[in-house]
Amino acid sequence: MKLIRVTKENMEFIYRVRSHPEVDKYLLGEPPANLREHGKFMGQNMGRFRILWDDVYGNIGYSQITQLKPNMAEIGFCLHPDFQGRGFGVNLVELTIKEAKKQNDFIVLFVHENNTRAIKLYHKLGFKKVSSENEVDFMISSKD
Ligand SMILES: CC(C)(COP(=O)(O)OP(=O)(O)OC[C@H]1O[C@@H](n2cnc3c(N)ncnc32)[C@H](O)[C@@H]1OP(=O)(O)O)[C@@H](O)C(=O)NCCC(=O)NCCS
Repeated sequence: MKLIRVTKENMEFIYRVRSHPEVDKYLLGEPPANLREHGKFMGQNMGRFRILWDDVYGNIGYSQITQLKPNMAEIGFCLHPDFQGRGFGVNLVELTIKEAKKQNDFIVLFVHENNTRAIKLYHKLGFKKVSSENEVDFMISSKD
């Protein structure tokens, strides 16, 4: 399993996952209105995204790394619904942290306080809750 870069050929996968109701209900913010809007957004933000690729299953999910300020990046995750609840989240989050920590000592994320499954995973991988506002938890992990 590995993270691969997003290209014009595989970026539709991200749109399908992000706009799926079983994914959207866990996420903050709105999904893109349509594939055209998604294409425009991706055209400007392609470098922030990675797809989790498996030799057997193909595209499994995606993650994003957003540089908030020097030495601090925000990360986010989505597994395709077919691959949720099967333990693949560990791979997705671990690989993304590894990538983000190449250039940052501090990795942060925002998660809805009701998203128990995601929060459990983040605690397991060393994230700690820093604060909570409007039902959204802010969590941080620093370089070992
Ligand atoms: C969040 C996400 C990345 C987690 O990955 P996953 O592979 O589905 O998670 P897992 O199956 O490994 O579950 C993680 C842990 O939560 C537990 N869990 C699963 N469903 C749960 C539930 N409904 N309530 C509480 N715990 C739950 C699992 O048992 C596991 O704990 P364990 O390792 O101690 O057994 C993935 O489900 C996803 O992409 N969800 C939709 C989008 C999303 O929520 N993104 C994160 C936004 S911040």
